[in-house]
Amino acid sequence: MALNKHEFQDNSTLVKAFSEQLAGIIKQAISEKGRASVAVSGGSTPKPLFEALASIDLPWSKVDITLADERWVDADHEASNEKLVRENLLVNHAASANFVSMTTSDTNATDAQGAIEKRLESLLPLDILILGMGEDGHTASLFPCSEQIKTGLDLNYPHSVLATQPTTAPHQRMSLSLAEIVKSRNVFLHITGEKKREVLEQALQQHTALEKPIKAVCDNCTVNLVWAP
Ligand code: 6PG
Repeated sequence: MALNKHEFQDNSTLVKAFSEQLAGIIKQAISEKGRASVAVSGGSTPKPLFEALASIDLPWSKVDITLADERWVDADHEASNEKLVRENLLVNHAASANFVSMTTSDTNATDAQGAIEKRLESLLPLDILILGMGEDGHTASLFPCSEQIKTGLDLNYPHSVLATQPTTAPHQRMSLSLAEIVKSRNVFLHITGEKKREVLEQALQQHTALEKPIKAVCDNCTVNLVWAP
């Protein structure tokens, strides 16, 4: 499948162009079917993008926002992706967007898979999915080190989400499955820095999908790489 590369000279140019592109897709989806669905990743990379997106005047009340993955912590925990999104994306113009959380009060993420799948149902397939990538080649919470990686990468897995437990990173997670990721209408991989570009290139050229899960995404759908140094 294709990897469309959008490389920028610096992060502020990236953020401006990328947020405007996303706004265009959101408007188009709303005009075609009344609502738009967007899943974003956590981590440190997307914060400036969230701020830029939230400052764009759009019919945000018609936008459903969820996550590519969530760490299994309370919504006010420092590591919570929901907290990051609430503080940086669901503000300004975007305060009226509808947020669909990926956590429950269950102690074990596995027990919540069914409930989260049901919650996400009306948003799927996603109009926009923005993925990140870790230096181990994980994307969403599809970690190469986790026991659940085969299931997460199985294109015949019949569910949109699965609970995962990385061994090289903290917290249980809830993640979109590869089977659901590849159904998304517009998949973006948003990464910054030389190191991550190298990791991506090596993943695609020298590794299996189980070793570097980002390869599974690139092999099975069109991915728009959005990169700046
Ligand atoms: C998470 C993520 C994850 C993230 C990468 C990159 O919650 O951990 O959604 O897949 O996108 O780990 O994270 P950074 O942007 O912090 O490098």
